Amino acid sequence: MSFRLQPAPPARPNRCQLFGPGSRPALFAKMATSAADVVNIDLEDSVSPADKPQARANVIQAISEIDWGKKTLSVRINALDTPYWYRDVVDLLEQAGPRLDMIMIPKVGCAEDLYAVDALVTAVERAMGRTKPLGFEVIIESAAGISHVEAIAAATPRLTAMSLGAADFAASMGMQTTGIGGTQENYYMLQGGARHWSDPWHWAQTAIVAACRTHGILPVDGPFGDFSDDEGFRAQARRSATLGMVGKWAIHPKQVALANEVFTPSAEAVAEAREILAAMQAAKERGEGAAVYKGRLVDIASIRQAEVIVSQSDLVGTA
Ligand code: COA
Ligand code: MG
Repeated sequence: MSFRLQPAPPARPNRCQLFGPGSRPALFAKMATSAADVVNIDLEDSVSPADKPQARANVIQAISEIDWGKKTLSVRINALDTPYWYRDVVDLLEQAGPRLDMIMIPKVGCAEDLYAVDALVTAVERAMGRTKPLGFEVIIESAAGISHVEAIAAATPRLTAMSLGAADFAASMGMQTTGIGGTQENYYMLQGGARHWSDPWHWAQTAIVAACRTHGILPVDGPFGDFSDDEGFRAQARRSATLGMVGKWAIHPKQVALANEVFTPSAEAVAEAREILAAMQAAKERGEGAAVYKGRLVDIASIRQAEVIVSQSDLVGTA
């Protein structure tokens, strides 16, 4: 490790973030009883401009009236280039009560965006005597956002999670696609006349994971639009989990189980991680730093890799 240690991210399960529009209050109770670890009620792009005030009122009422259990409860506010966002922040903090855990800030493009929201949130919190600091999560979904991702990750101690928003990201980057995440038909290599599809989201995901891990923030994969394609969702989620992301959004309730399945380490993976830890403990007792496990090298770095799997499993209570 560097002299500057890597901070641990918040110890909360974050395998699935289920979204629902603030303008559809009939969905709120269903979101609360879902198997998602995080609920995100939306005031932004799933709510039309005419519905913004009513959606805000629905959300404020639901935050205190609905039993959200142990879920992390988050509201996505409007972006900083709109006339809506300050009222979202002020009304939520003045009227919604202490149950709200986080706000999600979309389309963040630079660290100063978070500085501005932090200043407003801090002022209203002080005025209201709120004792539990409101957390932030952000969406990286623009060319500016990905260019400044490390500064954004370092912007405020309120920040706990960062998601990749594939649709707005693609639009901002000028990518030639209308798909929301997943395999893109024209992103392939030719080899011997055969097409091999590649992953156009890979770079952005890896940049987000690196920025998040540097600053102790949870990296999360955003939406997968085609909710009739379970295998496509699984494939996208498995790539994200392999790259270090901890969870994925669900934009329809049927995606919740898929996300939980992928981001909960399997019993086999946990058993193998524990065996690697045992093999390394035995090596340590022999005064050795490396050992052979199932015909392959394991060493002190393997302890850290195995501990990632075991701690993920402990967090969701499947150990
Ligand atoms: N959360 C919880 N329950 C939901 C839900 C959600 N987001 N979306 C749908 N449901 C419920 C429906 O009420 C229905 O329940 P029922 O069986 O008790 O009647 C059931 O799940 C099946 O719903 P379905 O008819 O397939 O979906 P729909 O046509 O009502 O809605 C969407 C589909 C995509 C419009 C809706 O899921 C949605 O708004 N998703 C979130 C969009 C969003 O927030 N976008 C912003 C982030 S990208
Ligand atoms: Mg978006």
